[in-house]
Amino acid sequence: MQSDVERVLITQAQIAHRVRELAGQIMLDHTPPAISGDGQITIIPILTGAMIFTADLIRHLPMRMKIGLLTVSSYPGQSVRSRGSSLISQQVGDLSGRHVLLVDDILDSGGTIRLVRDLLWEMGPASVKVCVLLRKPTPGAAATPADYVGFDIPDEFVVGYGLDYGDLYRNLPDIVTLRRDIIDSLEPKP
Ligand code: IMP
Ligand code: MG
Repeated sequence: MQSDVERVLITQAQIAHRVRELAGQIMLDHTPPAISGDGQITIIPILTGAMIFTADLIRHLPMRMKIGLLTVSSYPGQSVRSRGSSLISQQVGDLSGRHVLLVDDILDSGGTIRLVRDLLWEMGPASVKVCVLLRKPTPGAAATPADYVGFDIPDEFVVGYGLDYGDLYRNLPDIVTLRRDIIDSLEPKP
């Protein structure tokens, strides 16, 4: 698996440092008087990609919270191009009057965040904030506001720390690019 890596973009130490900084910002914005009520927070990772990021993030958030789960598919099968997002399943609980923090691994075209955010707003939350670990410099991402962004990265396909290619490589601790021949050998021909 390690031999499929082209180069390391962000190391696990850099990720860990940034996750603590993001958690600090989130704490400030989610502690009264910044928000109404106490313990009315629901954190919702968009599965599967945001699983590892969320697991690390919430352990730096010493606040009362519930966790909701939501699965979206945007890259069916092995693909480096999004084919549009669709909701696969959700288990987010009652969100009425709650402050929601939506967490995703990466903001690319923004289709996923916009789909999920609109869907959650219909459930009557007090607020919806968006936290992404990575953001690419695309027009769609620029048009999709995110409250917390870990790293702005070049427009390259990356894997590791939850991000996948054909459901593989999520367990790599760093964020890396894959060798071109690996992508070509795995991607189905049109
Ligand atoms: P968007 O809907 O185009 O913003 O894409 C967001 C989703 O696409 C993310 O939740 C990821 O699952 C996936 N994605 C986008 N870019 C990458 C990438 O470079 N590597 C792996 N997955 C990606
Ligand atoms: Mg995803």
